[in-house]
Amino acid sequence: MNRTWPDFSRREQNVPELMDDPACDLRQLERTYAQFEQVNALVSGWEVVYRRELRPRLRRDRAMTLLDIGCGGGDLARQLLRWAARDGFSLRVLGIDADERAIHYAQAQPPRSGLSFRAALSGELLRGGERFDFIVSNHVLHHLTDAEVPELLRDCEGLCRGVTLHSDIERHPLAYAGFALLAAPLFRDSFILYDGTLSVRRSFREDELRRLAPAGWQVTRPFPFRLLLKHEAGRA
Ligand SMILES: C[S@@+](CC[C@H](N)C(=O)[O-])C[C@H]1O[C@@H](n2cnc3c(N)ncnc32)[C@H](O)[C@@H]1O
Repeated sequence: MNRTWPDFSRREQNVPELMDDPACDLRQLERTYAQFEQVNALVSGWEVVYRRELRPRLRRDRAMTLLDIGCGGGDLARQLLRWAARDGFSLRVLGIDADERAIHYAQAQPPRSGLSFRAALSGELLRGGERFDFIVSNHVLHHLTDAEVPELLRDCEGLCRGVTLHSDIERHPLAYAGFALLAAPLFRDSFILYDGTLSVRRSFREDELRRLAPAGWQVTRPFPFRLLLKHEAGRA
C-alpha cells in the first residue's frame, strides 16, 4: 500500500490495479476473485439493492434475464440468482468480463442452472443484437477512464429493456482508511488490500459521476461511500 497519504481531490487514473496486470501472479489473482464474495458481503450492500430495485421488477410469468458486466469471479451473478430463486423467481444470468482469466475462474466454479459466463465487452453484445431485462455491475466503473464511462452507459441503454444499476465505491478519505483497516487482517495472500485501497482512489465522487452520465441516468448514494448509477429504459 502507498505509504504517503493520497490526494483525494481528483481520481487516480495513472496507477493500474494489480489484478489488471496480464502478468500478475495467477494464484493470487484467483484468491482475489475468491475473496470478492466476502468483500462484497461487507461493503457492497447488494442485498438491499436487490430488494429495492430488482425484486419488485421480477415477474413470475416468465424467466427474466440479467447481465452482470465485469463479473470477475462471478460472485454477484451467483448471489443474485440465489436471491431470485429463494424468492420464487426464475432468472437467467450472464456474467461477462473483459479478462479471460476471470471467466476461466468463474466457469471453474460449481455450475448452476441459468448461470453462464463469457469473455466479452458490452459493445460486442450490443452489436450481436442481445438484450436483457436487467444490467448490473459492481466495482467496474472505477476501472474505466472518464471517457469510457459514457461509452459503457450508452451500450447499456442499447442492451437493456429494463433497469440498469452500476454500483461502486465513492472516493473519500474515510472509505480509504476504513477499507485499509478492515482488509489488512481479513484478506491475505491476494490483491484485495492493495487493489481495494487503490480502487477508492480511482473511484468517483457523486458530482463527477453526475457530470459524466448522459441524460436519463440518476446518481444516488444508497449507503455511505457507495454510489449507484441507475437508468430505466423508457423513462426520461
Ligand atoms: C474489481 S473487479 C469486480 C468483479 C465483480 N464485479 C465483483 O464485484 O466481485 C472488476 C472487474 O471488471 C472487469 N472489467 C473492467 N473493465 C471492464 C469492461 N470495460 N468490460 C467488462 N469487464 C471489465 C475486470 O476485468 C474485473 O474482473
